[in-house]
Amino acid sequence: MEKVHVLDHPLLQHKLSILRDESTGVKEFREVVSEIATLMCYEATRDLPLQAVEVQTPVAKAVTHQISGKKLAIVPVLRAGLGMVDGILTLVPSVKVGHIGLFRDPETLEPVKYYCKMPTDISERDVIVLDPMLATGGSASAAISFVKEYGVKNIKLMNILAAPEGIARVQKDHPDVDIYVAAVDEKLNDHGYIVPGLGDAGDRIFGTK
Ligand code: PRP
Ligand code: URA
Repeated sequence: MEKVHVLDHPLLQHKLSILRDESTGVKEFREVVSEIATLMCYEATRDLPLQAVEVQTPVAKAVTHQISGKKLAIVPVLRAGLGMVDGILTLVPSVKVGHIGLFRDPETLEPVKYYCKMPTDISERDVIVLDPMLATGGSASAAISFVKEYGVKNIKLMNILAAPEGIARVQKDHPDVDIYVAAVDEKLNDHGYIVPGLGDAGDRIFGTK
């Protein structure tokens, strides 16, 4: 489980309880998804490499550190992953953004791809795939495979909520990928929903139900 990072900071737990509450409306749900993405981004970027640089402060020269190495891209899985984009951009405003459109067939629970657009230099970037929900893991596993097809070597997956089944699926298909989650729930129900979960993240972000 060393590739699974459960970020159980009190602020994340508090905000997640707001998302779980069925009485939380669209506006607040959207805002809190974004805030959680910002807090998770802080942790998921903890290992970014630094380089020493010299700057002139108003007082003296200082050797300080700036982010170096490969640049970052984020890839939200449409639709629900879009809700996490602004929260990431708050901390790393210059990241490039690729998009993968997937929906889960309600009968088979298999992901169906309907859109894909990546930055042209994606192969030179480290990538964080974003999706609030990791249920069966089919969507995340497919999204990671698509990103790998572009030649990306270093991929992280960021989900707000995961089921054990989804974590197991991604670890089996992509053992190289670090997974960042705010909580791991008990199980999936017969419809592939996370229990207790928070319902359908895309519908709650976009108010489509
Ligand atoms: C949801 C969610 C994930 C997927 C998770 O998307 O946002 O992408 O289901 O399920 P899985 O782990 O079993 O694949 P959905 O298919 O509902 O599409 P949406 O984001 O457009 O609502
Ligand atoms: N997708 C969601 O949005 N919620 C779930 O519980 C499972 C898949």
